[in-house]
Amino acid sequence: MALVNEHYLKLSAGYLFPEIARRVSAFAAEKPQFAGEIIRCGIGDVTEALPPSAVRAMQTANAELATRSTFRGYGPGTGYESVRGAIAHGDFRERGIDVADDEIFLSDGSKGDCGAILEILGAGNRIAVTDPVYPVYVDSNVMVGNTGPALAGGGYEGITYLPCTESNGFLADVPSELRGEGVAAPDVIYLCSPNNPTGTVMDRARAQAWVAYARKHRAIILWDAAYEAYNRDANAPKSIYEIEGARDCAVEFRSFSKSGGFTGVRCGYTVMPKSLMAYTRAGEAVALHGLWTRRWNTRSNGVSYAVQRGAEALYTDEGRKEVQALVDFYMENARILRDGCIALGLRTWGGQNAPYVWAKTPEGHDSWGFFDHLLRNARVVTTPGAGFGRCGEGYFRISAFNSRANVEEVVRRLAATR
Ligand code: MLT
Repeated sequence: MALVNEHYLKLSAGYLFPEIARRVSAFAAEKPQFAGEIIRCGIGDVTEALPPSAVRAMQTANAELATRSTFRGYGPGTGYESVRGAIAHGDFRERGIDVADDEIFLSDGSKGDCGAILEILGAGNRIAVTDPVYPVYVDSNVMVGNTGPALAGGGYEGITYLPCTESNGFLADVPSELRGEGVAAPDVIYLCSPNNPTGTVMDRARAQAWVAYARKHRAIILWDAAYEAYNRDANAPKSIYEIEGARDCAVEFRSFSKSGGFTGVRCGYTVMPKSLMAYTRAGEAVALHGLWTRRWNTRSNGVSYAVQRGAEALYTDEGRKEVQALVDFYMENARILRDGCIALGLRTWGGQNAPYVWAKTPEGHDSWGFFDHLLRNARVVTTPGAGFGRCGEGYFRISAFNSRANVEEVVRRLAATR
């Protein structure tokens, strides 16, 4: 008898974005006359063409594969050396951050890495996530058995939720034993900055406090910096390794999805410092770098050659300018959406250092209610805050990944349906 992984049966509902897609399809089927007018600002999926440097590099790579003398088969599971080098240099050492080439591990995106990392961490870690949270962190932990069952009011037994609310500016507070908040010390803490979904960025002092906390408790921070390219706040670290001591307590996830427009191409990477340790039950320190290398070499033959070449091209002078132009384009969209929400009198966060605008739903609407209201009356798809956790109830997220014309139209339609 083949047994099923019963942890999957705990998953409380469909993944947020398929649920949104289901509601949109149902609406389009019910009102086909409006189907063509729907503007999708729900899932944060890029809309603009790839940077030309990346396209050229991928075309060249494909042409190499078409010729016997330049053909390549299996590549290294952790990524080609030149690509790892370009990343470590361009994203870190050039900014004065100490990261070695072989601490970069290429993957098909940080979504997978956020869950894959759990393979090398032991069973029984106490997991902390923010609330609201990118649902992948939670669901990945449910799937591997790091939680109990789903709770009636939302969330899962056994996960420590760090409330992010208006009162803390939607930034996770470090649990304070002195204040006796009753939050048991987590072993693994997911932090995302710039934040998905709230668009807020964590300031340096708070990041320092988290690093100090993790070091004190021999915990690990899983720092998701997928939206780093959007962070313009000089007081907010772009990498956790800007914080002294972070190399001993943090893994960082990066993605080319939102910087290079690679959501469909698929490429990202994890930084695994050689000094990062986790512990056996007997208290013996084990370097995770070796386990992560082993994991990759067993599980995968890495990212496709052409995609890696495309990612590498983003670090050329031309590629960097193109990435900047793409990010600036989406950030102008974010400004338009943010200003539009503020003009409507909605309390608004994000949109300044992230491609997401987070706003309070108008009086009388809960998150899903307002989602349905906007879908039906404005034909605009947003993301209900409640889909990101209990503290997201009463808020909604708008993604700035869209054409300029659509973003301007969204603002007009929001105003018309107020
Ligand atoms: C989002 O909309 O939150 C993101 O696009 C999801 C993702 O990056 O996986």
